[in-house]
Amino acid sequence: MRFVGKTAVVTGAASGIGKATCLRLASEGATVIAADIDAAGGAELAATSNGKIIFKQTDVCDVTAIKALMDFAAETTGGIDVVFNNAGAAGDRAPIDEIDPEGWDRTMNLLLRSVAMGIRYAVPHMKGRAGASIVNTASVASLGAGYSPSAYAVAKAGVLHLSKLAAADLARHDIRVNAICPGFIKTNIFASALEVPDEKRDQANVVIHEVAAHAQPVKGGGNPDDIASMVAYLASDEARFITGAHMVVDGGITIGPRHSWDENSPAMFDSLQNFIGSAQG
Ligand code: NAI
Repeated sequence: MRFVGKTAVVTGAASGIGKATCLRLASEGATVIAADIDAAGGAELAATSNGKIIFKQTDVCDVTAIKALMDFAAETTGGIDVVFNNAGAAGDRAPIDEIDPEGWDRTMNLLLRSVAMGIRYAVPHMKGRAGASIVNTASVASLGAGYSPSAYAVAKAGVLHLSKLAAADLARHDIRVNAICPGFIKTNIFASALEVPDEKRDQANVVIHEVAAHAQPVKGGGNPDDIASMVAYLASDEARFITGAHMVVDGGITIGPRHSWDENSPAMFDSLQNFIGSAQG
């Protein structure tokens, strides 16, 4: 019960990582202001929470709506202790030599400006609150190529750097800021990115989860709860000495090329060795 008497604002609350985090923070005593563009999903989440989760429909691409969300949280509960800037989607998937400027801007606004403005409009309500903490969802895509489309990865790299700079700026107010880099987490984001129609979502998720099961050293892929655990830790006083950090929660997907950890993977070095053997022999 690390959040009794505290208020947390969570964006992207209606599904996946955000939803799991709302439930976790509420189960540990927080009053959670849950924000999402998805009104039905948000209302459903709030309805099962005994009043601990309050839904406010919010489009994080709309800066006015972000300000309204933070003001609402403070007016309703007296202030803000924890913010989890998490809402997101794949953004424009075009390669860098084909992307149009509108798609680029849309992706940056959804994934990066939303986090900057989430911080901007939450902080006035966080000053003077003991143990105030901001957590932002970045991605393993922040760390290198090969995990996502370019615009997404660049925006998420921005979230990583923004978290460090905000940690520096906000130290004077005793507000900690950290980022989380999730790996392959089994949520709806992949089916949404691929524009799978609703009636085929379950089918698509079976395939996606099967891919997730073998995508990293830890078998089975990540669950939203794996990220919620890290959010709750970073948001709590247990993490009082952690700021400006990024926590990689990825089942080891970033430790190195697949053949280094998967004995069943075709190994580049094996094929090189075979080639050398045949060339010599
Ligand atoms: P999800 O699709 O299950 O949930 C995303 C939520 O964000 C949805 O409820 C959606 O309605 C909401 N959302 C989308 N656009 C919005 C907007 N303009 N305003 C308000 N809400 C909006 O996906 P997931 O995986 O839970 O995604 C959460 C965050 O985690 C995202 O920022 C994503 O980029 C990030 N992430 C996810 C990974 C994964 O493997 N699932 C890996 C790395 C990062």
